[in-house]
Amino acid sequence: MTTHPVRRLSLGALVQGSGGHIAGWRHPDGRPDGQLNFAFHADLARTLERGRFDALFLADVVAVWGHQLDSLSRTGRAEHFEPITLLAALSLVTEHIGLAATATATYNHPFHIARKFASLDHISGGRAGWNVVTSVVPLEAANFGFDRHLEHELRYRRADEFVQVVKALWDSFDDAAVVRDKATGRYYDPAGLHTPHHRGEHFSVRGPLNISRPPQGHPVVFQAGSSPTGREFAARHGEVLFTSQYELGPAQAFYADVKARAAAHGRDPAHVLVWPGISPLVAATETEARQRLGELGDLVHDDVARRLVQDNIGDLDLSDHPVDGPLPDIPESNRSKSRRDLLLKTARAEGLTIRQLALRFATDAAVAGTPEQIADHIETWFRAYAADGFNISFPYLPGPAEDFVDQVVPLLQQRGLLRTEYEGTTLRENLGLPRPAARDRHLQESGR
Ligand SMILES: Cc1cc2nc3c(=O)[nH]c(=O)nc-3n(C[C@H](O)[C@H](O)[C@H](O)COP(=O)(O)O)c2cc1C
Repeated sequence: MTTHPVRRLSLGALVQGSGGHIAGWRHPDGRPDGQLNFAFHADLARTLERGRFDALFLADVVAVWGHQLDSLSRTGRAEHFEPITLLAALSLVTEHIGLAATATATYNHPFHIARKFASLDHISGGRAGWNVVTSVVPLEAANFGFDRHLEHELRYRRADEFVQVVKALWDSFDDAAVVRDKATGRYYDPAGLHTPHHRGEHFSVRGPLNISRPPQGHPVVFQAGSSPTGREFAARHGEVLFTSQYELGPAQAFYADVKARAAAHGRDPAHVLVWPGISPLVAATETEARQRLGELGDLVHDDVARRLVQDNIGDLDLSDHPVDGPLPDIPESNRSKSRRDLLLKTARAEGLTIRQLALRFATDAAVAGTPEQIADHIETWFRAYAADGFNISFPYLPGPAEDFVDQVVPLLQQRGLLRTEYEGTTLRENLGLPRPAARDRHLQESGR
């Protein structure tokens, strides 16, 4: 396969059954039963495929996200499918769309992850993507026998080794090694099977993997690092980079920064796609679209507003603070730094109350307007090198996804930005990313 000669817009959808907005499940047209409803996810995947999306993406947290079960009980976030299981099922009801999911490097083991994503890639005919995260939610630690969340730098060191081991495991078999030759009686060529024999700081993995090389060579690696350490990690390993950016200038700076970092690691910057998040809400007029967004804000309960702030900026308890009062001083935290810093800066600069900050957070990626306005936004960011594509989170589902596919996608196609038909078979081919050669060994083999 060849990579795209012309830079082309790519699209992904961040799918949460209850919608991207915290109160999405309560919207009159939302689907409160969406989180654990396979038929609902299948319909949505087919809608996105009709809109020629490159990929759908399932985020993941390996915990119930919240200590305060009362506020959690007012959101649709207390339950969700295990992502790889859901993607395997979705692969059977779709043909083209890429299927990407988060799996944390902090609370998993490389052998399991290499195996699961290799299986998904085989089952889906080369459509798998792995979003490598280091876990933003400290609560996950307690589910895996740890008293404390691993420290930020250490999480990324572990993740770096994790990814190298996974890639080495995916490369266990050479592409042509599994011959399954009845006549000679050889199932695979022994010379084409390589045992990583990895021993490192965090992992000791002999290998090889018990599954032949994935159709894509390696499933596409997604990443969302944002801190300097996270960006370095993304620049080393990420092929699609998610980022939370709300203004053109900072988005352009992020884009230039991660492309330069990738180049410094000897990678072709064109093979590192930057996807800011966006949450489109289409209506006949901008006023109507904004009004609908405001209605979603009215559905956010006080406790949920407090938790939204608390969960995203620091390890402190806001339950005794008036929701319409100012933010108290926030201590340093061991969680996602970039997000926290951005929100704190915004709150201080604009003198926002806890509720206002929560609502800002709930709609920070919102682009509410007419189909033309949304297409203009996408085109502007794409042409200004702030984005190669977008990670689209619909505020509630399925209406806004259907509206986007029916009203915005045709405009993007008319403007020559988006494909009208899938050009490749695999996610890599559709994204214009090269297939890694099996000979690119990521770890020194030893002891064979
Ligand atoms: C679109 C998007 C999706 C993300 N999905 C997850 C996820 O599923 N699980 C998770 O633990 N973190 C997720 N993150 C958090 C990132 O992995 C990362 O930790 C965060 O952007 C902060 O960057 P830092 O780790 O460099 O501080 C996501 C971030 C973004 C922007």
